Amino acid sequence: MENFDFVNPVRILFGKGKIAELGNEIPKDATVMMTYGGGSIKCNGIYDQVMANLKGFNVLEFGGIEPNPKYETLMKAVELCRRHRVNFLLAVGGGSVLDGAKFIAAATHYEGDPWQMVVCGRAEAIEKAIPLGAVLTLAATGSEMNSGGVISRLSTQEKYAFGSPLLFPRFSILDPTYTYSLPAKQVANGIVDAFVHVTEQYLTYPTQSLVQDRWAEGILQTLIEIGPQAMSEPENYDVRANLMWSCTMALNGIIAVGVPTDWATHLIGHELTALFGLAHGVTLAIVLPRLLMETRSEKKLKLLQYATRVWGISGGSEDNRIGQAIELTENFFRELGIKTRFSEHGIGEEQLLPIVQRFASRRWKIGENRSLDAEKIRKILIQSI
Ligand code: NZQ
Ligand code: ZN
Repeated sequence: MENFDFVNPVRILFGKGKIAELGNEIPKDATVMMTYGGGSIKCNGIYDQVMANLKGFNVLEFGGIEPNPKYETLMKAVELCRRHRVNFLLAVGGGSVLDGAKFIAAATHYEGDPWQMVVCGRAEAIEKAIPLGAVLTLAATGSEMNSGGVISRLSTQEKYAFGSPLLFPRFSILDPTYTYSLPAKQVANGIVDAFVHVTEQYLTYPTQSLVQDRWAEGILQTLIEIGPQAMSEPENYDVRANLMWSCTMALNGIIAVGVPTDWATHLIGHELTALFGLAHGVTLAIVLPRLLMETRSEKKLKLLQYATRVWGISGGSEDNRIGQAIELTENFFRELGIKTRFSEHGIGEEQLLPIVQRFASRRWKIGENRSLDAEKIRKILIQSI
């Protein structure tokens, strides 16, 4: 096991009706900015519940944060925060709204162009941030219990991750009933996102981190077990509760301690969203199977472990077991209704080449062994058509 430091200060308020505790979590004299997305919270009643629990607080609202939140939109909120001296942010929504709030929190106090804070992605760039809390409405990203965010810029078609320990939410309210109103495709995207968060931290090389491996496998098996039911029974509380907690556990830092991490599928996926607007979960479902095929020799030991422990594959040659496990992974995504090929999204080779050029010009080498260069990324993309 590798050395590690671990801290996660987020207070999780989990379960039905937990919104009633919202008022206790925010300082009474705070000037609060409540941020939300395109309006789903106004249709499903969550907005009314939040506002009822913010009675007596000084609250400003900022709505209209889009999926894959945009720098251009968020800078308008930054302007308002500066003007009204906002000193608490409450994000009500999915990962995009939460990430947007993290950006607003840091950018409000950032001297210079806040886009630089995102491009450089270094935590040290962020010295001060407005404290924030979250009410989660979509199980997927883990943003509710981590200190990172992902922001896109329309004008340059870029999407980057950033983070700082100052951006952990002070609290997150996780009420599984808040996810009942999600469209099926958002549920599916969320399941894939959480699944791939786990594989990014688990399918690398062994470091004798036995507990972390079992945690990761437990989350993967849970997602496989309840995924289809989460799609077919939207108001099954226990299923939604387990899905929500699986997603949070997949990216709150706990399974990453002491192990190497990959994140190549995510880095390629971010480019696909930035250039084609594909949903985050969809990009991951397209890239992961081919990325695992391309890296199967370096990931061999963990892939074999994955095949046996997660998919119960015992017979056949090593190559065969690995191939089967990758195929079952892709089938799982497809059974959730996700199209895992570029051609199914009308994207061909020519459109993919700018992505390869981006990796080439940035000279990035990604993956746990830094073995994926632009040429290998090209192969992965072409094989995914
Ligand atoms: O905007 P509204 O109207 O609220 O509608 C949203 C949005 O259209 C809708 N929605 C959310 N909750 C709902 C609901 N509709 C009905 N009922 C509800 N209860 O769902 C749509 C998608 O929402 P979004 O927040 O974009 O989805 P998600 O939570 O999947 O977040 C995706 C973003 O998170 C980033 C992604 O890159 C992407 O930008 N990620 C953030 C991470 C992090 N902070 O740690 C890690 C992830 O890897 C990921 O990259
Ligand atoms: Zn993700």
